[in-house]
Amino acid sequence: MRFDIITVFPSFFECLNEYGVIGKAIKDSKIEINAVNLRDYSNNKHKKVDDEIYGGGPGMLMTPEPIYNAIQDLKMDNSKVVFLSPQGKLLNQQMVEEFSESDHLILLCGHYEGVDQRIIDNFIDYEVSIGDYVLTGGEIPAMAFIDAVSRFIPDVLGNEESAISDSLYDGLLKYSVYTRPSEFMGHKVPEVLLSGNHKLIEEWRRESSLKNTENKRPDLYKKYSKGE
Ligand code: ADE
Repeated sequence: MRFDIITVFPSFFECLNEYGVIGKAIKDSKIEINAVNLRDYSNNKHKKVDDEIYGGGPGMLMTPEPIYNAIQDLKMDNSKVVFLSPQGKLLNQQMVEEFSESDHLILLCGHYEGVDQRIIDNFIDYEVSIGDYVLTGGEIPAMAFIDAVSRFIPDVLGNEESAISDSLYDGLLKYSVYTRPSEFMGHKVPEVLLSGNHKLIEEWRRESSLKNTENKRPDLYKKYSKGE
């Protein structure tokens, strides 16, 4: 899987090479991440990528031409173009899994007051939000998107099981988990988890998963119970 990112801050993404699961996935060539500088696609002599909003109003808007040029330069036959925006469809685990089946994703990071609507209407395949709050730009959302999608690419997680046993994989939160010591500050690990009885442990985990979802995310629990 290849991710190309269109951004005014390409160096922001360098840290992905350095750390953890994503850093290793890059080293192992499971994923490829390439951030391009939007300003390099500007024909303006000052490399300007924003302008005032027609009709007035505060702030600046990203102009269409550099974005169009960047998309045309990066696009291949099998590319999907994703615009990270607070107006997008709320990203969820099912969408993440679907995106992980792509060969090539081009991520456009917005800034200022957003991008010219003609780009969104004509040159973007998906507009995606990572939550109902507004960030100063699309770079952190793009990183969250890359991280979430990469976890579903085969062999990126050490153990394929982990993505499947994760919270939200089947619409439920994960069961509670414990490690040593078996008693901490007087608080004990549930006895059944020490029993070695796999069938009972499975049952306990299923219960715990349902209970966690009902308590922490009643919205998900309702959906799950209705079989949606
Ligand atoms: N850019 C600014 N806020 C955002 C959000 N919540 N999701 C995606 N992109 C954004």
